[in-house]
Amino acid sequence: MIVSRHFKNARLLLFTFSIAAAPLAWAESLYSKPHANEARVHYMLYCQGCHLSDGAGSLKAEVPKMKDYVGNFLKIPEGREYLVRVPGSANAPIGDEKLANLLNWILLTMAGESTPKGFTPYTGKEVGVLRAKSLTNVVTLRSNLIEKINKTSTDFDTQAIRKSK
Ligand code: HEC
Repeated sequence: MIVSRHFKNARLLLFTFSIAAAPLAWAESLYSKPHANEARVHYMLYCQGCHLSDGAGSLKAEVPKMKDYVGNFLKIPEGREYLVRVPGSANAPIGDEKLANLLNWILLTMAGESTPKGFTPYTGKEVGVLRAKSLTNVVTLRSNLIEKINKTSTDFDTQAIRKSK
């Protein structure tokens, strides 16, 4: 019977989904699906042009990769601030809550393993305070941060910045 077959399929689907989603449970609990969809759209509209759809960036255009990398900045407090203060983030034409959501989404999806486990998601309030602090020399700040992070951790990959110099 059609109805019961549908029911069975739905149960199978739910079962499959719950297995696939299990490792991501901690990340998913941080935001709902509509939030993730909103972040994806904002990324496409305002970031993808430079950072590319998967966050790979472009060494030629000196756009650093975010994929499997950008979460490293969370290893030091100034790095956490930097991710909000960098012009691409701070000047995005979206409100503080939406920018917080977008950054959390980037960190929990594209940034992969580089994001420290159990990282505290950005809130709109935190983002609002940080994005208002002006940032004058982004290139110097970025390399200083990377140097500092390198000193505190051995698994940091400096390939992107070395190649772009
Ligand atoms: C015009 C090109 C461009 C656009 C558009 C852009 N970015 Fe960037 N982004 C860069 C460049 C270049 C850097 C390297 C730092 C710098 O020179 O500003 C960067 C760095 C970053 C960083 C820090 C990563 C690192 O390794 O330094 C974050 C986080 C970031 N951007 C987020 C965003 C977000 C979020 C958006 C969309 C709302 C966005 N960017 C849009 C070019 C861009």
